[in-house]
Amino acid sequence: MLLSNRLTRCLALPPLTTTTTLQDIASNQSKGVAKVVLKKGKTQLFRDGSPMVYSGAVDRIIGRPPPKTGDVVLVADGTQKPIGWGLYNSCSMFCVRLMQLEEEVSGDPSCALNVEKLLETRIDAAIRLRKSLGLPSANTNAYRLVNSEGDRLSGLIVDVFGDLAVIASSAAWVEKYKQHIKKCISGLNMIKSVVWRPSTEILKEEGLESEKEEEEDLLCERVVKVVENGISYMISLDGQKTGFYADQRENREFISTISDGQRVLDMCCYTGGFALNAAHGHALEVTGVDTSSPALEVANHNVILNNLDPGKISFLKQDATIFMKNAASRNELWDIVIMDPPKLAPRRKVLQSASGMYRNLNSMAMRLTKRGGFLMTCSCSGAMTQKSGQFLSVLQGAASMAGRKITVVRQCGAACDHPIDPSYPEGAYLTNILLRVL
Ligand SMILES: C[S@@+](CC[C@H](N)C(=O)[O-])C[C@H]1O[C@@H](n2cnc3c(N)ncnc32)[C@H](O)[C@@H]1O
Repeated sequence: MLLSNRLTRCLALPPLTTTTTLQDIASNQSKGVAKVVLKKGKTQLFRDGSPMVYSGAVDRIIGRPPPKTGDVVLVADGTQKPIGWGLYNSCSMFCVRLMQLEEEVSGDPSCALNVEKLLETRIDAAIRLRKSLGLPSANTNAYRLVNSEGDRLSGLIVDVFGDLAVIASSAAWVEKYKQHIKKCISGLNMIKSVVWRPSTEILKEEGLESEKEEEEDLLCERVVKVVENGISYMISLDGQKTGFYADQRENREFISTISDGQRVLDMCCYTGGFALNAAHGHALEVTGVDTSSPALEVANHNVILNNLDPGKISFLKQDATIFMKNAASRNELWDIVIMDPPKLAPRRKVLQSASGMYRNLNSMAMRLTKRGGFLMTCSCSGAMTQKSGQFLSVLQGAASMAGRKITVVRQCGAACDHPIDPSYPEGAYLTNILLRVL
């Protein structure tokens, strides 16, 4: 008798069970599961959790017929032993989005190779995380419920605005499982309607050329009212991104805490998030500037919604550079300036030229900041955020250009409902830095 069996008997424990492997589960499937075999020396990165298997890491694909985009595949090491499973794409530079690793499956095989079950489990985990972060609350019902790789659902974003969910899809597999995802989200207690918002440009890179435009629930209004940090907002579903920049929630709240009695300028203000927080924090006077008329229309509506004094908060449609040049020529100064431009470096390749744009914008913003005042400056370019020290060096360059001295007072990113997987640092895109400008 084996020693382990003898011990089991002595201790009256149940007999040792064999663990379920991905290979066993795949072998039991009626339809064959293709295997994506990694090149020698390329396995560890993915064993360590990196979710995106790039085509350069793939040695060969075993399976007849070959897998199609959106199919479940096994990802295996050079000896063909599975290390995990994921969703295949025949066009994208990311060949597989890894969904689960072998050791997770041996712990709990219930979701293995089962996209529907995995979606339910991961969405449930995302809800529990937000609940433990206090979201939603009486003060905030606009937040990110699913943050792509950060919630281990690469390519899927869900923003919740009250009882409406906006689902942003940027992966072929997300489009394939659209009906199931919509069913999962619309089945949540707090959700009454859903809007499906495909990221058309990114989906082209996923091989989905003619993806349909936004689809909405027929009962859904184009405008919804939400509350964030106790401030009410209208959100237009025709607005930018999902309609609202929930990522800046904590940074906006911080502005309200330092605005008492201050003159505040909100550059690239969109629907007035920072400006409204400054006014709520008893700023003396607030000006918001943006080039988008629809966004400014909503911003003005938000002033009324919050019973703020329209004599103290106003919005102007103008290009940021033109506004700042004109203000400098009038020698205008503000105690607090916020600079939150659109993504100026959409790709790593253009980071160099974008750095020049960030430097110029920030230099102008520093010139408009009173000595001893604050500049809250942001970059939502992933390429900038991920290159360590780059934004600070750009800001130092801007300060030299402006003839000012700066110190860093606070450094933040997106709000806590935007979790990041450290195995996928590309998920970190937002940098928000508060500078004291001397
Ligand atoms: C990242 S969003 C700002 C989000 C905003 N701070 C908030 O908290 O909701 C960037 C904004 O810059 C605006 N924008 C783009 N180009 C601009 C320009 N040349 N001058 C001024 N605003 C511009 C866009 O319309 C958009 O509203």
